[in-house]
Amino acid sequence: MYRSHHCGALREKHIGSEVTLAGWAAKVRDKGFMLWIDLRDRYGITQLVLDEERCSAALLEKARKTRREAVVQVTGVVIERVAKNPNMDTGNIELLVSELTVLNEAQTPPFTIEDKTDGGEDLRMKYRYLDIRRAPVQNSLLFRSKIGLLVRNYLAEQAFIEVETPYLIKSTPEGARDFVVPSRMNEGQFYALPQSPQTFKQLLMVGGMDKYFQIVKCFRDEDLRADRQPEFTQIDSELSFVHQQDIMACFEGLLSHLLEEIHGISPAPFPVISYEDAMKTYGNDKPDIRFGMTFTELNAQAQNKGFTVFDAQELVVSIAVPGAASWSRKQIDTWIDWVKRPQIGANGLVWVKFNKDGTFKSSVDKFFDNDALATWATACEAKAGDLILVMAGEAIKTRTQLSALRMALAESLELRKPNEFAPLWVVDFPLFEEDEDSGALHAMHHPFTAPKPAHLSQLESNPKDVVAQAYDLVLNGNEIGGGSIRIHDRGTQEKMLSLLGFSDKEAKAQFGFLMDAFTYGAPPHGGIALGFDRLVAILGGKETIRDYIAFPKNNSGRDVMIDAPARLDDDQLNELGLKNN
Ligand code: AMO
Repeated sequence: MYRSHHCGALREKHIGSEVTLAGWAAKVRDKGFMLWIDLRDRYGITQLVLDEERCSAALLEKARKTRREAVVQVTGVVIERVAKNPNMDTGNIELLVSELTVLNEAQTPPFTIEDKTDGGEDLRMKYRYLDIRRAPVQNSLLFRSKIGLLVRNYLAEQAFIEVETPYLIKSTPEGARDFVVPSRMNEGQFYALPQSPQTFKQLLMVGGMDKYFQIVKCFRDEDLRADRQPEFTQIDSELSFVHQQDIMACFEGLLSHLLEEIHGISPAPFPVISYEDAMKTYGNDKPDIRFGMTFTELNAQAQNKGFTVFDAQELVVSIAVPGAASWSRKQIDTWIDWVKRPQIGANGLVWVKFNKDGTFKSSVDKFFDNDALATWATACEAKAGDLILVMAGEAIKTRTQLSALRMALAESLELRKPNEFAPLWVVDFPLFEEDEDSGALHAMHHPFTAPKPAHLSQLESNPKDVVAQAYDLVLNGNEIGGGSIRIHDRGTQEKMLSLLGFSDKEAKAQFGFLMDAFTYGAPPHGGIALGFDRLVAILGGKETIRDYIAFPKNNSGRDVMIDAPARLDDDQLNELGLKNN
């Protein structure tokens, strides 16, 4: 028996018992005649004590030589602590050691294994196994595991069946590049790793599985950000004989269940907003609705009043920043500079202070008097004390720029509260988006998404106006899920692929298996996938998914611990038929 208890288990009721613990020596404090070791495992820390009076000289010497992070097994009697530590679960007791075995020595770790470590991100990732010993990382992994279990139980109760789908497949387009795997047995041919199990889950519906789910790895070769990893996990699902509302109700239920179980929050029915309204009101299809600063269009109030900067523009749009009328010119200028940075690319900002006394002061006083500015304030529903910020320009670009400003202002005003949760659905996405340069159509969601039945007849004549039966689940300004009702007949799928630029031959080569399946009795079906890493991070009050992944990749897609990706040697390349000689 390595241990009788965990390092977080002992309490006052254990005083007098002899126990055996095993763990890591987190700290050794040596006062000469007396010595303490903090012994750590996943469950907590127990203080070990040794002294000249009660321990043999040999034992004391062995303890003295114990190095930080050595793996240690100790036996002793639980005693009451003289100086109790109310901040520790085990703070009322300590273990008077009678036997100590060093199970394995440890080198001095390259950073401190403490809640607040001195190790930078790169170093911690290189020695991730040491980083994982730290309580914040362990807690994140435990949190992830707990949510995974809640999800599995919830879906199992709703009669979903977990089915594994293959990783060595052919390209499934989700808008990113594929990671490919060469096939030794089929020289010159490659598998693609799934960007999602999309086509397989649809085939499971054709196979009559009715309700499928899987907590599954997906692989996408795309630019990385805080909320993106090249391999990430989805809670993937598909259902047969359902409408969009059925799927939304089911997954609204799942997220509500998680919020209830984890944070004790019972959210109201999630708001549902159309893509078009989301873009007009927030400039963004994944709006953070924990705070206001919604967009107000001021074309009617602000154009053709002699201010030429506004007159020529497609859109004049504003937000009211709460309580910011008191900002200095310098503060406002900082934000003007911020929107002019190339990353945002705006021409500038017009500002209007709606002073507490009801008067206005603005950067366009020459063109607009108090009465004119009052109409802006009314339109924006600004309150005395607010600062109105106005942007003008081409509609789509200006909305995107103002959205970036809205989010940055909210961050700086601390309106993005991590312990507040504001889910919503965004629906009625266009089926296609148009490539700005080439004019080519791309699927906004993926090529298997069905158009609204009423729009089906316009698929070829007016594709840009066709609305999809697609929906996104948004939480605190993050897209945590997306899904759709699928096309389930061969004719529509062929039409769709042809509109996306696939020749008949290409469509058949890539998706012939799916279209064939549709001819053997495919039920109407649809589904959704939630980004598990994102969901866990946001529920944990963060937006960086790396914190919730045991072995994440860095922003260049590298695992710096195992040093991957790496070159293959010539023999292996030869074997795979990848070497030209
Ligand atoms: P979609 O591409 O929207 O849909 O992906 C679903 C969710 O997965 C998360 N996600 C990511 N998380 C971390 N890193 C990434 N690189 C990454 N990419 C996506 C997001 C996203 O909302 N097959 C469809 C689902 C369906 O139609 O049923 C799909 O994969 O949270």
